[in-house]
Amino acid sequence: MEKTRKNLSEAFSGESQANRKYLAYAKKADDEGYKGVAKLFRAVAEAETIHAHNHLREMGAIQSTSENLMSAIKGETYEFSAMYPPMINDAKAEGYSGAEKTLYFANEVEKIHAHLFRGALNNESQFKDVEYYVCTICGNTVENNPQEKCSICAAKKEFFKKID
Ligand SMILES: [Fe+2]
Ligand SMILES: [Fe+2]
Repeated sequence: MEKTRKNLSEAFSGESQANRKYLAYAKKADDEGYKGVAKLFRAVAEAETIHAHNHLREMGAIQSTSENLMSAIKGETYEFSAMYPPMINDAKAEGYSGAEKTLYFANEVEKIHAHLFRGALNNESQFKDVEYYVCTICGNTVENNPQEKCSICAAKKEFFKKID
């Protein structure tokens, strides 16, 4: 079972990546006017999500909401405290300014994610009436009202997307 557990984890990563990649490809196909191809990418992306969720469930990695919140806090905290900072430094050292920016955006937003998850863990019921807005430029995630100007990337209010 040890080998299969590792295989499931690897398969989960691959399917998750394929899902996001195909959604990006679908957007590009839409932009280029290939509506049918865009739809095909979205259909396959949907199927990859099913595969990813099936693997994740089989790994026993979907637990109670409290446990899932703790796992999410751990993951976000790892990203902004250990993963992204050295990556940002590497990008800076290599003069890869585009990467430095996307890594910086993610790093800043992961701090907010950890904070939001922590709040939810402390008081799950308080969160039922909250609205969320996500900045489509940097991923900044805010409660109740989009910011006039994104606090992380300075994008205007119109760039925030309401999450249903
Ligand atoms: Fe995050
Ligand atoms: Fe932003």
